[in-house]
Amino acid sequence: MTLPAPIGLLAELTYRCPLACPYCSNPLALAAKTPELDTAEWTRVLRQAADLGVLQVHLSGGEPAARRDLEQIVRAAAGAGLYTNLITSGIGLTEARLAALAEAGLDHVQLSIQDTDADVADRIAGYRGASERKRRFAGWVVASGLPLTLNAVIHRANIAHCGDIVDEAVALRARRVEIAHTQYHGWAAANRAALLPDRAAVDRALADVETARERHRGRIVVDSVAPDWHARFPKPCMGGWGARIINVTPHGKVLPCHAAESLPGLEFWNIRDHSLAGIWAHSPAFNAFRGTGWMPEPCQSCERRDVDFGGCRCQAFALTGDAAATDPICERSPHHAMVLAALDGPVEPVPAYIYRKA
Ligand code: SF4
Ligand code: FES
Repeated sequence: MTLPAPIGLLAELTYRCPLACPYCSNPLALAAKTPELDTAEWTRVLRQAADLGVLQVHLSGGEPAARRDLEQIVRAAAGAGLYTNLITSGIGLTEARLAALAEAGLDHVQLSIQDTDADVADRIAGYRGASERKRRFAGWVVASGLPLTLNAVIHRANIAHCGDIVDEAVALRARRVEIAHTQYHGWAAANRAALLPDRAAVDRALADVETARERHRGRIVVDSVAPDWHARFPKPCMGGWGARIINVTPHGKVLPCHAAESLPGLEFWNIRDHSLAGIWAHSPAFNAFRGTGWMPEPCQSCERRDVDFGGCRCQAFALTGDAAATDPICERSPHHAMVLAALDGPVEPVPAYIYRKA
């Protein structure tokens, strides 16, 4: 079988971030003592990614603007011919710096918002005044001519506002809005009892988004997918393990997904020691769950195994202790009862957030 090239590179430039969102996908234990990849190392990664066939790079974090060399990294990505998307909280970027990033070749900005209610938004972000600064930043992006996508992670505290979030995206003149239901990895797994909404709230939110989509038809693209905790089958996480996405951490580890370090027993090669192409093709971690040969039953004989690839490995491990288990989200999983139990009894009162620490 010929190995397909990855389409996207998720470049986690730093774990540093001014916000403290309780659903952050960064690892709970941040590898603060290892030096981050420097400008020359990221330049090499970006060139190697383009040579490997990657088309898009998502500059992420933490907050990528915490890197003083972000303009140089953007220039290197654009120079390598990559479509360059900045995933940012908008905090810490001035209008002048945004202009410098645009001049360096940035193609697109994806701005996260926490809620339409400023007080709720600031409480979720753990940062007073964040909401106001994000709105101002959105205005600068639109004025610069860069396309803007608004992204909101949905959970118990903001799920009643999904329609409002679409309205706000239109008001901010975003071209696209992503209603992204929380994925329970990293800090979100630690905060699951505080974040997981009940079924009725999810059903209302899906209906609200459809109404808002109709209200704004032709003015904005609305991306919204039903949350997998409330679905019958899991999503094809990362488009399949080692199939479409390659993730480089701030310290140079190359991962098949952003949460892969939570899985025990996998060896993650470092870009400081190996080429990106070599890691993609030969590293044990990328080959551990590639394709369908590793699958247990019921996935092995399931007609959906090439559709969802058995779901999410990180979720399967977090819930069952076995990274090769069928994702318990699936109604055919022998562990599915634990998902139903969690959905039937949302915890009251809502527990306090465990905030991510920088
Ligand atoms: Fe997907 Fe496995 Fe469930 Fe089939 S049994 S739907 S392959 S997770
Ligand atoms: Fe790791 Fe889904 S987040 S496989």
